[in-house]
Amino acid sequence: MGKRKISGKRGFSFENMKETKLKKGVRLVALVPIQPKHFAILYSWRLEPNTARHNPTANLTLAQYKTRLSKVSSNLKERGKWDFRWMSEIGGVAVGSVSLDVNLQQNYGELGYLVSQKHQGRGIGGKMVPLFVDKVFRESKLDRIVATVSEKNAASRAILERIGSVQEGVLRNHFLIQGKRVNQIFYGLLRSEWRPPGCIGWLTSGF
Ligand SMILES: CC(C)(COP(=O)(O)OP(=O)(O)OC[C@H]1O[C@@H](n2cnc3c(N)ncnc32)[C@H](O)[C@@H]1OP(=O)(O)O)[C@@H](O)C(=O)NCCC(=O)NCCS
Repeated sequence: MGKRKISGKRGFSFENMKETKLKKGVRLVALVPIQPKHFAILYSWRLEPNTARHNPTANLTLAQYKTRLSKVSSNLKERGKWDFRWMSEIGGVAVGSVSLDVNLQQNYGELGYLVSQKHQGRGIGGKMVPLFVDKVFRESKLDRIVATVSEKNAASRAILERIGSVQEGVLRNHFLIQGKRVNQIFYGLLRSEWRPPGCIGWLTSGF
């Protein structure tokens, strides 16, 4: 089978997605395998105020966090693995990260994502997450992708809703974040509901 092409731009394929400079000033967000050089930067990002405000952050030392990250995979086809992560880059600069925790028995995955604080609000999350969801549905046989988001995390909820995730419930006072109990919104997206991005401009505008 040939590689699936995205309509509207001949020759483009998600299959070989790399960070590519398309034209002056327009760059594509790329998902790259996580490497040890990323561990410390990711550790610092998860402690940034915009992330800590909306997410329960395990109290880990850098050494403990590095040990955890050293076990993740960036290959969705790796058998027996359940904990996956990639970095997102623009122009070779790390700007964010995406992750997937797979329930192997139930055949679904839970999304995680963050954009470093200094790069937030530029449309990166809104491109990176659907790019990742498309990758997951193409490279795995998972039936569904879920995400749990703090009720007041408007940017994250906007991203999930834009890609067609359905709000399936409210987990009341579910997480303890910075000493307060907060509602979490539970989102789900079925494989049959996923509509991949239709054209390359959709992925590249906004940076
Ligand atoms: C959530 C996060 C990934 C969003 O990434 P981003 O690059 O800042 O988001 P974007 O600029 O692509 O904006 C995405 C959407 O949110 C909206 N948005 C952005 N900031 C917003 C804000 N402060 N309030 C309300 N909406 C906001 C945008 O308008 C856009 O919506 P649209 O597509 O309908 O126009 C990023 O803010 C982040 O990493 N936060 C900390 C970690 C986190 O909470 N991760 C999610 C865990 S569930």
